[in-house]
Amino acid sequence: RGPEAAEPDLAGRHVVVSAGGTREPLDPVRYLGNRSSGKQGYALARTAAARGARVTLVAANSVLPDPAGVDVVHAGTAVQLREAVLKAAADADAVVMAAAVADFRPAVYAEGKIKKEGDREPEPVALTRNPDILAELAGTRARPGQLVVGFAAETHNVLANGRAKLARKGCDLLVVNEVGERKTFGSAENEAVILAADGGETPVPYGPKEALADTLWDLVVRRIPKG
Ligand code: CTP
Ligand code: CA
Repeated sequence: RGPEAAEPDLAGRHVVVSAGGTREPLDPVRYLGNRSSGKQGYALARTAAARGARVTLVAANSVLPDPAGVDVVHAGTAVQLREAVLKAAADADAVVMAAAVADFRPAVYAEGKIKKEGDREPEPVALTRNPDILAELAGTRARPGQLVVGFAAETHNVLANGRAKLARKGCDLLVVNEVGERKTFGSAENEAVILAADGGETPVPYGPKEALADTLWDLVVRRIPKG
């Protein structure tokens, strides 16, 4: 971004960003998790703060340090993340769900560590669905004109799956990126297409996650009601 980047175009706004990946416990020492590093969400929080926003970062299990000048709330599981995001979203102008939320959690939490007993084969792990936080945010709109943004990681049919997901979730913008073994997870770079409910399609070339973040905030700023 050029010198105009310093423009505090998010001043007076409250934005909420979720980041990282949820962990769903099986017992006190084990969990089901995912490979999200939190880098994209933290980049979104930093860039929004640099543009003058009050930022609440709901962080799930990232090893990254709390960014300066940002309110950070830590959440472990999808259920905890939902609670923290909905609370922060009550007065937010925009909510960006960059966190990788587990679709399922173990149906039963074992209070004691699960032991292997003798030679018996293990029990299958029964799973139950987690709440869909993004769909709930989009359906509720805690504040009139509140902008709701999702992220989607797809391994194939990236654009078609992204369009369908945007419609299904009911959000305003969806950042779609292609993922694979060496793509995106843990990387400082990203390449994506930002799909808009109004039909817009903004390609973001391969580059730092900050650049994607700033492009996303540009699109958000244009869409939030003046206030
Ligand atoms: N998300 C959410 N709550 C969930 C699952 C996902 O809020 N329980 C959000 C993610 O934070 C992301 C968006 O929804 O912003 C899309 O996540 P993704 O996993 O791509 O979508 P799903 O609807 O879970 O579809 P899939 O079956 O492809 O995993
Ligand atoms: Ca999912």
